[in-house]
Amino acid sequence: MIIGIPTELKVAEKRVGVTPSGVRTLVQAGHQVLIQSGAGLGSGFVDESYTQAGAQIKGNRQEVWADSDMILKVKEPLPQEFDLMREDQVIFTYLHLAADKDLTEKLIEKKIVGIAYETIQTENGSLPLLAPMSAVAGRLAVQAGAYCLEAQTGGRGILLSGVPGVRPAYVVIIGAGVSGLHACFSAVGNGARVSILDINQERLDYINDVMRGSVTTLMSNEGTLEEEIVKADLVISSVLIPGARAPKLISRNLLKKMKPGAAIVDISIDQGGSCETSHPTTHDDPTYVEEGIVHYCVNNMPGAVPRTSTLALTNATLSYALEIANLGYKEAMKENPAIAKGMNLIRGSVVHKAVAESMGFRYDPLSEF
Ligand SMILES: NC(=O)c1ccc[n+]([C@@H]2O[C@H](COP(=O)([O-])OP(=O)(O)OC[C@H]3O[C@@H](n4cnc5c(N)ncnc54)[C@H](O)[C@@H]3O)[C@@H](O)[C@H]2O)c1
Repeated sequence: MIIGIPTELKVAEKRVGVTPSGVRTLVQAGHQVLIQSGAGLGSGFVDESYTQAGAQIKGNRQEVWADSDMILKVKEPLPQEFDLMREDQVIFTYLHLAADKDLTEKLIEKKIVGIAYETIQTENGSLPLLAPMSAVAGRLAVQAGAYCLEAQTGGRGILLSGVPGVRPAYVVIIGAGVSGLHACFSAVGNGARVSILDINQERLDYINDVMRGSVTTLMSNEGTLEEEIVKADLVISSVLIPGARAPKLISRNLLKKMKPGAAIVDISIDQGGSCETSHPTTHDDPTYVEEGIVHYCVNNMPGAVPRTSTLALTNATLSYALEIANLGYKEAMKENPAIAKGMNLIRGSVVHKAVAESMGFRYDPLSEF
């Protein structure tokens, strides 16, 4: 199979689809890899390291898209890439379609095969290709939140850790999955007082065990959410219902009850955000203030640390990319139920139930293919 790796186009996105050592594995398995010149630079990988691994360097994105059977990316395709797509081309990347109706319509029109990293799901319910970036985003959320609490950003002027004699910040994390757990590590490590909420008792038990009781775990419901949010200096939202739009847990009314200058880092913004007042921002202009609350809603947070993120992403994606390349997507989804869960679009049909329902598209079950 011919596998193409274009340079990412999203603002301040410096990750790349595969590392040079990932390319070596694909080439050794008999595949041809085309990579756009300079695609790895932002992550510290020069063209030469890709040619040594067996890739061919292409001068522009058009050449990469034109010849490839499968495109390996990091973020969703942007409008500049729509005209480059070919019918039946496989795009293996983060798609987050539930948050983007226009993109979904465009990919349907282009009849591409869309396999989303974020919906690949193993039998135990884990999301192995979302997990590494959720770990990065969770840890970064605390850094971002600390910045939001500084006075020049519009924040309350609070240091997360406090100092001896002065109270630390109160951090409330909603969602005790992968990013919630990593936010928890980082917030506790920074000396904040932390509470974490989830609707899943097993996750709360797990957090209680690994954090050795250093954080308060709470069952998430309207009552506990309100109680915690009004007390918070920093709220980090990391909820997810796989494939679906994020539930709106923080209404504008609830926001009005928060402490002035408190901050919200809405990690779930890539699935539409869990706050009524959230809208996507970029690394160039990451925050805005609404109802006196600082919002940070960057939907490609790991792009801020591209070296770490690209290495972690390839660690997770490579075996799946290899399986799809070796077998073709039709065999791969039959052989591997996790890949079947990753199928979002097949040649004009929406084949992921939660994605279809979120957007009001017709759902065509995968069994029909
Ligand atoms: N902004 C970014 O750059 C970025 C980067 C990585 C991941 N993400 C996003 O972060 C989100 C979380 O990802 P994850 O890997 O941690 O997911 P996860 O599945 O590991 O965890 C999500 C948790 O949310 C919980 N949850 C669901 N509904 C809830 C509710 N009403 N109240 C409380 N908890 C609830 C689930 O029980 C689960 O434990 C996803 O939307 C993911 O796409 C964003």
